[in-house]
Amino acid sequence: MDFPGGHILSIDQFDRGDIDRIFTVADSMEPYAQRRKLTKVLDGAILGNMFFEPSTRTRVSFGSAFNLLGGEVRETTGVENSAIAKGESLYDTARVLSGYSDAIVMRHPQAGSVAEFATASRVPVLNGGDGDNEHPSQALLDLYTIKKELAANGRSLDNFRIALIGDLKYGRTVHSICKLLTLFKRVQVTLVSPTELKMPEQYVDQLQSAGHTVVETDQLEESIAKVDITYSTRIQEERFASRDEANLYRGRYRLNQAIYTQYCEPNTVIMHPLPRDSRAGANELDNDLNENPNLAIFRQTDNGVLVRMALFALVLDVVDQVDRSAREVAWYTGGRLTQ
Ligand code: NCD
Repeated sequence: MDFPGGHILSIDQFDRGDIDRIFTVADSMEPYAQRRKLTKVLDGAILGNMFFEPSTRTRVSFGSAFNLLGGEVRETTGVENSAIAKGESLYDTARVLSGYSDAIVMRHPQAGSVAEFATASRVPVLNGGDGDNEHPSQALLDLYTIKKELAANGRSLDNFRIALIGDLKYGRTVHSICKLLTLFKRVQVTLVSPTELKMPEQYVDQLQSAGHTVVETDQLEESIAKVDITYSTRIQEERFASRDEANLYRGRYRLNQAIYTQYCEPNTVIMHPLPRDSRAGANELDNDLNENPNLAIFRQTDNGVLVRMALFALVLDVVDQVDRSAREVAWYTGGRLTQ
């Protein structure tokens, strides 16, 4: 895609070269994200961070990424706190907010809403998750993490094995991941979900058309026995008609240290987009995995900052200028650097 001035709405926009470009730029952001260097390349720029659904990581890491490049962040959270609650259209909101900002990140409960918003925006719009549709920046940071984790075991993104587990029907992160995997070769994908929450057909078709092996099952243990990556997801209760309906599936697939030790190969990497539901009835990733060195969930969240910095630098076309304004950090950064 043509990054400068572009929107980031769907994984459909990217080819493999784009992914390589994003990952190379993300690598170059490491000194800034780790606070070894400061840059002011986005000095004076304003990010409109518009979150009309709950969020911790995506909202704060997009904001931090913009701050780390030297820009400022203005935020709206919750439909009830915005004029959308007064009936304002996405079109009007986009026209207004794009007059106040140099880039906009938006999360919204309705599938397709962020793309609709982008048509009226005069500045780049990045999709922070639109309903049960897509979450492209999460899929990018997940794949960036998978690349690093595989590389640590001498492997590459072509020819690996992954199990996607949980609510595959409503999970937008796994939808974007399936699309992203089509850009690679010979991936073995195991889709583990209750029958009612299966991966929508369009994503399965795309994986198969890309030549990948796809197995669909409702059994956890056998599926995690021969994979390089397990990627668990939360039951997306906000997309169900009622909490009771979500409760039918909550807790169905729990990975804990005992199950990991019994079934997984020694280096299997454990991932999750987070939040993991840590309530007793859910626990799709148990806390007893916290000391497992293959638990990559907090490496994913750290990598999210790098990938989101890269996306901003690309759409605002400052990649080549980041280092020009670099200077050393004056304060103690030891804790961060030893993570
Ligand atoms: C995910 C999301 O919002 O789709 N969270 C995130 O952004 N890391 C996954 C989820 O909420 O379960």
